[in-house]
Amino acid sequence: MQALQLSNFGASNLLLVDNVLPEPQEHEVVVRLGAASLNPRDSQIIAGQFTNAVDFPLIPLSDGAGTVTAVGAAVTRFNVGDTVTTLFFPNWHSGEAFAGERAVSTGLEVPGAAREVGIFHEDTLARSAPHLSAAEAACYPCAGLTAWSALFDKSCITKGSWVLIQGTGGVATMGIQLAKAAGAKVIVISSSHDKLAKAQGLGADHLINYLENPDWGQQAFELSGHGVDAVLEIGGTATLENSLNAIRHGGHINIIGYMAGIEMGITVFPLIIKNANFHGIGTGNRDSYESLMSFVADHRLHPPIHQRFPLNKLQQALNTLDTDSPFGKVIIDIAAP
Ligand SMILES: NC(=O)c1ccc[n+]([C@@H]2O[C@H](COP(=O)([O-])OP(=O)(O)OC[C@H]3O[C@@H](n4cnc5c(N)ncnc54)[C@H](OP(=O)(O)O)[C@@H]3O)[C@@H](O)[C@H]2O)c1
Repeated sequence: MQALQLSNFGASNLLLVDNVLPEPQEHEVVVRLGAASLNPRDSQIIAGQFTNAVDFPLIPLSDGAGTVTAVGAAVTRFNVGDTVTTLFFPNWHSGEAFAGERAVSTGLEVPGAAREVGIFHEDTLARSAPHLSAAEAACYPCAGLTAWSALFDKSCITKGSWVLIQGTGGVATMGIQLAKAAGAKVIVISSSHDKLAKAQGLGADHLINYLENPDWGQQAFELSGHGVDAVLEIGGTATLENSLNAIRHGGHINIIGYMAGIEMGITVFPLIIKNANFHGIGTGNRDSYESLMSFVADHRLHPPIHQRFPLNKLQQALNTLDTDSPFGKVIIDIAAP
């Protein structure tokens, strides 16, 4: 069985190696991984842009999905044959992370999903929605859960809520699907007319090209009548002011990404005047993930996939994520699809 190991920063330092696994201990589960998905963080970790604190060699990628092939004697959460995914924060199971539950993340402090087989403590995995392929299931641990936590745990959206979603990448496209399945009205902004048309195909109600409409926040406010209930804030510096213009009084801005800058150069007045709620989103916990999986199963959602690559082409896949501006997720097939 093979694994892709990073021996130093830089994608050219990824090498396929033999991955010999011990027998599973009492509470451990052996998983044959079928697919992984890529997130900007994976790319940044590999490039050395996320943190210097990497213990090489590292098996990268936070998000993987596969099938349980063996269980330790005391395992109660899974049986052989169950389909499962990794968790972004394997030790964060419920509530707020008061006791360092977020100190460990998959594909950084512990080995990630770029391998054919892994051994995991049973508490660090979750069941996939049964109708999903491995490639589809692998889309959810980071990007899917982030959209879910923002929309439902923090913004409490419901039927009739208005949601503004920035971009058409992994978080955004799953956000569109989740919000529409909940009965919300969705406004999507993108730099691309083609991708806006695809977003409409996912159910988006209103489409704005943010390059052609620099005051898209005001437009979103007007479309929704009295301001949107929730924003998935993907851009950062370049988008925050428009997001504040877009929300209703008491609306929710979910700070997720920094695609267009990491600084928050805003004054306090619009926040005070609008009674704005800002939420920093750091993916989410296992309870939320399990709620997400049952919602995905109930609504039979299939996440948009941009392109698929085999495990030994991870470098090309990272390049696609970084330069192609994908609509949806980039997938690594580990087992034959
Ligand atoms: N906080 C968390 O827990 C968490 C979890 C996952 C991801 N993230 C972060 O969230 C961001 C998105 O992640 P992803 O996986 O969805 O990445 P992705 O698939 O690469 O998508 C990036 C998206 O950003 C959009 N974008 C770039 N500049 C923009 C701007 N000025 N205004 C509006 N949209 C803009 C692009 O929109 P168009 O191409 O359509 O114009 C693109 O669709 C990244 O910064 C990532 O690091 C955070």
